[in-house]
Formats: sequence, C-alpha cells, structure tokens
Amino acid sequence: MIIVTGATGALNGVTVDRLLDELPPSDIGVSVRKPEHAQQLADRGVRVRQGSYNDPAALRHSFADAEQVLLVSSSDVTADVNAQHRTAIDAAVEAGAQRILYTSSHGTGFNTPYPPLAINAAAEQHLAESGVAWTALRNGFYGDLSQLLGPWQATGTIAKPADGPFSWVDRRDAGEAAARILTSDEPFDGPVDLTPPTSVTLADFAEQASELSGRHVERIVVDDEKWVVGEIAAGVPEAAARFTLAMFQATRSGHFAQPGLTLSRLLGREPRSIADQLAAEQFVKTR
Ligand SMILES: NC(=O)c1ccc[n+]([C@@H]2O[C@H](COP(=O)([O-])OP(=O)(O)OC[C@H]3O[C@@H](n4cnc5c(N)ncnc54)[C@H](OP(=O)(O)O)[C@@H]3O)[C@@H](O)[C@H]2O)c1
Repeated sequence: MIIVTGATGALNGVTVDRLLDELPPSDIGVSVRKPEHAQQLADRGVRVRQGSYNDPAALRHSFADAEQVLLVSSSDVTADVNAQHRTAIDAAVEAGAQRILYTSSHGTGFNTPYPPLAINAAAEQHLAESGVAWTALRNGFYGDLSQLLGPWQATGTIAKPADGPFSWVDRRDAGEAAARILTSDEPFDGPVDLTPPTSVTLADFAEQASELSGRHVERIVVDDEKWVVGEIAAGVPEAAARFTLAMFQATRSGHFAQPGLTLSRLLGREPRSIADQLAAEQFVKTR
C-alpha cells in the first residue's frame, strides 16, 4: 500500500490523482489533517485516516500497512517544522514502511539564503539516518504565477527584485513525477532532482507574457530594500516580504539553476513550459 500525506493539498493531491490512474484505490491510503476534506477520495475507495505531524500516534495508525509513505514538507509556518518532519519520518519507520519519500526542493542544503532549503536538508539528513530506504523528490521551484510575477496583466510590468536563473516547474508535473516514482520498479534512492531541461529568469517570463498578451510586458528590477518597503506599504507583513526576497536572492546565487532530464524521462514528455503555464493561467482568468 502507498500512503500519502498532504493529499488535501495541491502537490500531493495531484500525486494521488495520478496514482489513481495507475493503481486500484485499495492500494492507496491518505493521511490527512481533516478527513472531511478527503471525502471525494474516500468515495473512490481510497483509505482515508486522520493524521497530523503533531500527533505521532495518529500518524502511526494512518501509516499502517504502508510499503511506501510519501511525506509532504510541512507548510505549517507557526510550528517547528523540523520537529514535525522528524516526527513524520519516525512514525513511518515505526509503522514498518519499506521506503519513505519526501517532497524536498531543488537547491536543498544548509547555509543557503532561503530558509526552506535548510529545512529540507535537515529532513533529508533525518531520512538518511532512519535506516529505511528513502527518496527526496527535489522539485524545481513552483507556485502561483500571480505571486511570482505580480499583476503583470494590469500593469504591463514584472517589477520584482533582481533574480538569477531558476528551475521553474508546473506543480502538476511535479505531482505526476512523484506518482511515477512511487509506481516504478526502478529504485530511486536518495535525492532526485525534478527540474526541467532549461532554467528561466523573470525576463524570460516577461518575454513569454509579451508574446501571449500581444503587448510589451517590461521586466523592471526593483532595489531589494525599496521592494520590501513597497510590499509593506501594500499590506504584506515584513517577515513575509523578506522571506520572498530571500527566494530572489537564492536565485541570484544559483540555488535553483541546475536543469535536469529526470523529470522529462519520468513524464515521458517535455514538462509544461512557462509559456504553457502562462497560457493556462490566462485561460483561467478569462473564463
Ligand atoms: N518547491 C517549491 O517551490 C515549493 C513551493 C511551495 C511550497 N513548497 C512546499 O511543498 C509543500 C507542498 O506544496 P503544496 O503546493 O501542495 O502546498 P499546500 O497546497 O499548502 O499543501 C500543503 C499540505 O501540507 C499539509 N500539512 C501542513 N502542515 C501539516 C501538518 N502539521 N501535518 C500534516 N500535514 C500538514 C496540509 O494539510 P491540510 O490540507 O490539512 O492543510 C496540505 O495538505 C508545501 O507544504 C511546502 O512545504 C515547495
């Protein structure tokens, strides 16, 4: 049985959907904080059990019978996420899982400007010490395009701090690749980079947005501190603005830059390009 946490979230929700394309529902279980949010999965025959990274006993119960457990990286900003990840990994070991997978990120390592990279490095270290086979799905950078680019459709500009090349994946592709790894006969041991064959910059997004919209979209580089001041004036908490700034700083130092071929190989096609993703977003906005 494959047990997935974070299945009521965006990334691992896609993974469960893609697993259901390939496996009988009785081979799949989910461990979710709110089972009522997973009713659709229960209706399809997926085993739904309650589990939270703050509750080891509930996790052990929800991981029972698992050959493989896929752990989402916690999004709980109010918690000690390192402790949560250790709790989840230990519960999977205690439940007898033969392989533990974890949604890590490309560029993971200690001593980086972007805090999630060190959190993922700590989780990977705990996995390596767990004594159980493990796989870190080092996804390229992803997220909502509106957050990455700002309101370019209204302003005709992408006004953000300086960036460097970064690997940008469509979350649907990352979720699908995880399902392929979970159902593969090939062992994927340790860190696996899931990045597209080419990295991009915000200037590339501006170019593609210009082509798509038929009008010039300008990439404007904003001074770091001026950008933070502007975000705070727009109502963003300073800590959140500085967190995002750290992401841009990480791209400048190449933390998200290495392209890869494993993602394409797993998908059996090219990953969705930034043009595909911008077009999909445009379609949603104009419906
Ligand atoms: N590589 C990247 O660029 C990138 C970008 C954004 C995020 N991430 C990371 O990747 C993860 C998945 O991304 P996403 O887009 O799927 O985010 P998401 O939609 O916010 O999903 C996060 C999932 O984590 C679950 N979760 C949070 N805290 C938990 C806890 N204490 N115990 C058990 N489950 C918990 C949530 O449960 P509920 O459904 O109950 O809320 C949710 O299902 C995020 O959590 C974040 O750590 C990576």
